[in-house]
Amino acid sequence: MILFFSEQGKTIKNGFLRSQDKAGTKNIYGEEQMALDKWADDVLINGLKKTRLVRYIATEEQPGIIEIENPKNNFGVVIDPLDGSSLIDVNLAVGTIIGIYPGNVLAPGNTMIAAMYILYGPLTTLTLTTGNGVHDFVMDEKGVFTLTQRDIKIPDGKLYAPGALRKDYLPMHAKFIDNLEAEGYKLRFSGSFVADMHQILHKGGVFTYPGFRGKEKGKLRLLFEANPMGKIITDAGGAISNGKINILSVKPKAIDDLTPIYAGGKKEIEMAEKFMAQ
Ligand code: AHG
Ligand code: MN
Ligand code: MN
Repeated sequence: MILFFSEQGKTIKNGFLRSQDKAGTKNIYGEEQMALDKWADDVLINGLKKTRLVRYIATEEQPGIIEIENPKNNFGVVIDPLDGSSLIDVNLAVGTIIGIYPGNVLAPGNTMIAAMYILYGPLTTLTLTTGNGVHDFVMDEKGVFTLTQRDIKIPDGKLYAPGALRKDYLPMHAKFIDNLEAEGYKLRFSGSFVADMHQILHKGGVFTYPGFRGKEKGKLRLLFEANPMGKIITDAGGAISNGKINILSVKPKAIDDLTPIYAGGKKEIEMAEKFMAQ
């Protein structure tokens, strides 16, 4: 299945030349869809259906869970086909996020058996965990992914990627951000969760897209963004929290659950939970 997703990564990367347009439609979160969001979604769903490797497929672009007729396995897959898609038309790095469950996908993130993301940057890279360490692969000129870094551990580092608008911060979150600044953390935020988290994984620090005034659950999706990325950062020695508890222990209620996210080094996540508990 990992091979399947690496193949799809190549297809999606090659597809960027096809369209930079908006699709003129909205997803179930009310967000403008890019033509590439829907195209990447089709590529992944149709490809996965053909392999019959999995029973359940849920993606950020679909309203419900797709169940495959007599599949070869009982796996469930969650997919953000194109993360950071608002950056497509300004040529910034975007990604694909995938999580794999032993069964249906409405289960806590700590039951995932694998998680990966593909980052379409100057290089196309695949970052993968199957529970035995987090490993990086780079796609070569022939489209083959070769291992470049084994068993990545998040280092100590002072970057922070703060989503949402400062004017909408809840008081305890504002204090957390002020504390990071006071401790000399440098702001790095691109608008692509995959790109921002890849930077935190390799350089240390914390990514946050918090709950904020008017949207206390935040903007990012529990199933398609928080859980897969949470497994990766946790397997790399970091942590992920909703400000109160480990997100990977949360039992999803519905596929479109949203969650505040604090993800990065254990030190920063403990700091965030201390401020959010005030
Ligand atoms: P997607 O393109 O899959 O909807 O994800 C976009 C998300 C995430 O990648 C990023 O961290 C966040 O939206 C940025 O939100 P803002 O544009 O509000 O900063
Ligand atoms: Mn996304
Ligand atoms: Mn997306």
